[in-house]
Order: sequence, then C-alpha cells, then structure tokens
Amino acid sequence: MRKHAEKSKIIRSSPALQKISKKMLAQGKSIGLVPTMGALHKGHVSLIEKSVKSNDVTIVSIFVNPVQFGANEDFAKYPRRLLADAKLCGEAGASIVFAPEPKDMYPLPLQTFVHNPALENLYCGAYRPGHFAGVLSVVAKLFNIAMPCKAYFGEKDFQQLHLIRRMACDLNFSVKIIGARTIREKNGLAMSSRNEYLSTEERAAAGSIYAGLLAAKKLHGQGEVSAAKLKSAVKERIERASGKIQYVEIVNKNDLMPVGTKVLRNAVVLVACYFGKTRLIDHVEL
Ligand code: PAJ
Repeated sequence: MRKHAEKSKIIRSSPALQKISKKMLAQGKSIGLVPTMGALHKGHVSLIEKSVKSNDVTIVSIFVNPVQFGANEDFAKYPRRLLADAKLCGEAGASIVFAPEPKDMYPLPLQTFVHNPALENLYCGAYRPGHFAGVLSVVAKLFNIAMPCKAYFGEKDFQQLHLIRRMACDLNFSVKIIGARTIREKNGLAMSSRNEYLSTEERAAAGSIYAGLLAAKKLHGQGEVSAAKLKSAVKERIERASGKIQYVEIVNKNDLMPVGTKVLRNAVVLVACYFGKTRLIDHVEL
C-alpha cells in the first residue's frame, strides 16, 4: 500500500466511464480492470496492486450484480460500503472506482445473456442456476464499458475464472485475462467478502476446508490416484469440523471436465460447503 495515496475518482455512470476510457486509450494509456462486488479484502487488494504494477490506469468496478444471485441467495444482505472500499482502492493505487447503480447497468431487464452451456451447470452452477450466465454477462458489459487491456480475476473462484477466460477467447474480447493466486487467512481459509457472515467459531472451523484440500494434495503426492479416496480426505476433515459438504469434485485443470476414477496429472479439487448458513468455496491443484 502507498503511504501518500491519491484518492480514487468515483464514477457512477457507464457512459461517463466509457468516455473516460476511450480518451485514455486515445492517449496511449493502458487500462487494467479489476471487477469486484465490493466489501474489499486483501484478496481484492492483491488484484488491484497487480494491475497497478502493469497498467497506466487501474479501474476497480464495485457492483453487486443482481443478475448473478438466485432468488434465495444473499443479494439483499451482501455487504455494501462504497466509501471504505474507495479509500482502499486509492491506497492500493487505483485511479478510478466504477460504482454504478443497478438501473445504470440494467436500464432495461437484461434479455441478452452470455452462456456457456457446456460448463455453466456443472459444480457451483449445478447449485446456483443462472449464476454463471449472470457473471459472464456482467463481465462482458464491464469489458465493453471500461475497455481494459488487461482484466484481473482471482483463482479463488476457479470455475468463474475458467469461464471468463473461455468467454474472452470464444468471443474475441481484446482483453488479456490475468489470474491471481488465492489470498488466505492465517488458518488457511480463503479470504472472501462472505467470511463476514461467519461467527468466530465458524471462521475457525472453516480452516478445515484448506486443511482437507492440502491433505488430498499430500495423499496424491504420495501416489494415491483414487478419486474416491482423495475426495474422502477432503470431506472427512470438513465434516469433522461440522461443515456440510455441497460437492467435492476433481476436474481437469485445463477444460474443467471431471477426471473420472483415476487422478493423474493436471487435476484440481473443487469444493463447496456450508459452515452454518454460509456457503464457502475453495480449490487446490494436485
Ligand atoms: P468478488 O467476489 O467481489 O470477487 C472479485 C474478484 O476478487 C474475483 O476475481 C475473485 O476471484 C477475487 N477474489 C476473491 N477472493 C479472493 C482471494 N481470497 N484471493 C484472491 N482473489 C480473490 O467474483 C466476483 O466478485 C463477481 O462474480 C464478479 C467477477 C465481480 C462479477 O460480478
């Protein structure tokens, strides 16, 4: 973080940002975009700092995107604190915070969506119908509004990152997608805006997610190739800490397809589980 940080400028309208971006590009400036839903933590800050290092201008978007939330999900209670977030963005070196209202992003109900029928209903998508179409559609809109040269996303949301890379490739977006490693709490829990929903006890117990993933990684390193045994190692640790598994899957790192019964190379374990009422996700590469 910078000691004498410049303040980030807050822009609230898409046409205004698009105009600024066009002007900056015309001046030969490179633009980095960090899309977020706010309630920023060190994971987000790491993405902003990465962008600041390699672009002339960094834009952080803060938008709790209604279109990616299911009817029974946490859209209403998702933490919103624009001013504190904007301060963090300035300290991390971002020039612009783009914080549109839903009516700016969706003046009409969205009819045109980006879908990936091959992957949007697998893993997290199986439990969150419509979620990934909502994510891809808003990210496509943000790319068209901010016109970034590079856009930064966390590996934490592994399926999301894969889908965004695939969208950019399939639809010829002229933006380079940069992935960044997961920033964790001391007990291994992946940082997430949703960790704020956890009680102190739940937060401590949720350290078992990464412990379980690391146990599977260790077993695999020792030669265990049975997908069932590797998944059990993850499940066991989470359940012992009173977590409820939603799914554990082992997938191919490159195409996200399930690996089958034998786990050889290029595999990633994906997990989603609940601690109390809070749904958490994580993954590890084997
Ligand atoms: P949000 O959950 O706010 O995350 C914004 C970005 O920060 C995502 O790319 C996410 O993967 C990354 N991130 C979250 N936790 C992280 C951690 N512990 N370490 C590193 N990176 C982390 O993901 C979304 O918002 C939305 O779906 C969005 C892409 C903005 C579309 O609405």
